[in-house]
Amino acid sequence: MKVVILKDAAEVAKYGADIFIKQIKRKPDSVLGLATGSTPVALYKELIAAYQSGRVSFKNVSSFNLDEYLGLTGTHPQSYRYFMNQQLFDHIDIEKSQTAVPPGDAEDPFSACEQYEHNIKQKGGIDIQLLGIGRNGHIGFNEPSSSLMSRTRVKTLTRATIDDNARFFGPDEYQPHLSITMGIGTILESKKVVLLATGANKAEAIKATVEGPLTAACPASALQMHEHVVLVIDEAAASQLADVDFYKHIEMENQKLLERLGRD
Ligand code: F6R
Repeated sequence: MKVVILKDAAEVAKYGADIFIKQIKRKPDSVLGLATGSTPVALYKELIAAYQSGRVSFKNVSSFNLDEYLGLTGTHPQSYRYFMNQQLFDHIDIEKSQTAVPPGDAEDPFSACEQYEHNIKQKGGIDIQLLGIGRNGHIGFNEPSSSLMSRTRVKTLTRATIDDNARFFGPDEYQPHLSITMGIGTILESKKVVLLATGANKAEAIKATVEGPLTAACPASALQMHEHVVLVIDEAAASQLADVDFYKHIEMENQKLLERLGRD
């Protein structure tokens, strides 16, 4: 696993955005896997700024989001479709029709999940998947105990996740307890994975992801099985890692090598 440890959340956002910009420049019709939550917001701001300055165009890009609350329509302010429009899609030149978020209002959520998997395959798979991580190690809404081979499906949220996300809902507002999420197996099929984590409240989950055993108790540990995964984290999120100096050393050596080869 490549672990890039940076000073703070601002550096994490810039570094993460650069990975996506390079990907789109290399392959203008890239299929992006996208995430919601607070962590990627700063990265999306960087992408918007890059688009506005003419550094990148999303004209031929398509996207699949990781997850959506079951029971919310895309116009609900707490839905992840609404979030994506607000935080990214409304500010760049992506074709909205090419952006997919699991349908939280599907009449038949089970067949909607199968259809979502089918649509990803039809597009040739996800080129690069952005992830955040829950305090309990979840990725997407794959909570601890999720099968490491799971596919897009209906998933019950844990109490911890419901409590963590309660901050986005008003005191009397209905907060769903179910979601549709890509599975861990779906995520592992992305050609590249970029996981962002910032803040000390993610330190335990990051430790379990990088240095813990491969276990359904920490769904993100499944990323140990992925060939091209990079964790972009700040010092606070790295604070419980035993081998910080080693990860920094690897990164320095990698940079030197790439510079010598004239690659980025
Ligand atoms: C969101 C998602 C979740 C979040 C995770 C972290 O689409 O899939 O796994 O990435 O809950 O959320 P934040 O960034 O708000 O801490």
